[in-house]
Amino acid sequence: MKGRNPSEGKGQGFRKAILINEHLVVYGVPAIAVPILLPVEVTASVGRGAGLRIFVHPTTAGNPRKDIDSDRFEAVRRVLRTMGLSETENMIQIQCGDDLPGWSGLGSSAGFCVALTRALCKALSRSCPDEEINRIAYEGEKVFAANPSGIDNTVATHGQTVWFERGRMPAWEWIRIGLPLWIVIGYSGMPARTRDEVEKVARFRDTHESVFSGLVQGATRLGRDARTALEKGDRVSLGALMDRGHAMLQQLGVSNERLDEMIAFCRHQGALGAKLTGGGGGGCMLALVSDQSEGETMVGGLEQMGYPALCVKLGREEEPG
Ligand code: MEV
Repeated sequence: MKGRNPSEGKGQGFRKAILINEHLVVYGVPAIAVPILLPVEVTASVGRGAGLRIFVHPTTAGNPRKDIDSDRFEAVRRVLRTMGLSETENMIQIQCGDDLPGWSGLGSSAGFCVALTRALCKALSRSCPDEEINRIAYEGEKVFAANPSGIDNTVATHGQTVWFERGRMPAWEWIRIGLPLWIVIGYSGMPARTRDEVEKVARFRDTHESVFSGLVQGATRLGRDARTALEKGDRVSLGALMDRGHAMLQQLGVSNERLDEMIAFCRHQGALGAKLTGGGGGGCMLALVSDQSEGETMVGGLEQMGYPALCVKLGREEEPG
């Protein structure tokens, strides 16, 4: 790279929604996550000199803002290290959106790590298969999630609906959705750090061993049933299973009043099921709805309560339905 102009690359990573069994997936319980086609984008340039700079552009304003968030910085460093890139031998510049940790729970951090890895590979003209991208991004994701299961970076890399079982080889299978799934996502307005919530659950496991092992057994059955419902396109059963999944997350202590308030509202408005999604402690909830128009009405109601919300169709365009 020395002696040449900096070379630039752009990369993308998907966000995701976990439909069932976040947190317990860290302990080997099967979980299901679906990509949300709102990608995270990163531009990287590598050139002569030394140093690492991160430029964060607010998504709403035109003027770039230089900002260094310590988690993001550490994650970038880990990705660079895993790729064998030294910031003492290269001038590395990263540009990204200001979407960490806003709307937390939707996989922005894993999306960022994947987008970053892809951008660096492009800047260096390295061909890097998706599996390698996923492996490298996982190292960055450890900064955000402490002991990540790997589900978020896997969806962020491949952009496919995944059945994920940590500890199995391979840990994931792609699954197909039997019908279009419309969900409403509500943001509690409270950014949360996944790492803190993962550590909270680890403490729960240490202090409530038998309750925790009961939850693991129940959630394992729940995961299997949710997969069957999803593949058959049985929204009603899936919604009921999501409700049960949320009750387990409440028991683990990762829900809060705002999430519970949004969830109760959506259920009252006719959602088929509703639960927090991702790390919890703030962040987002999701509600399964029958169609887009019902979803848009629910979005309006959540917004009136002061919660930003959106209605999205889950899965990829080419999935059936
Ligand atoms: C975060 O999106 C999902 C968690 O289960 C952590 C993980 O699986 O790495 C809370």
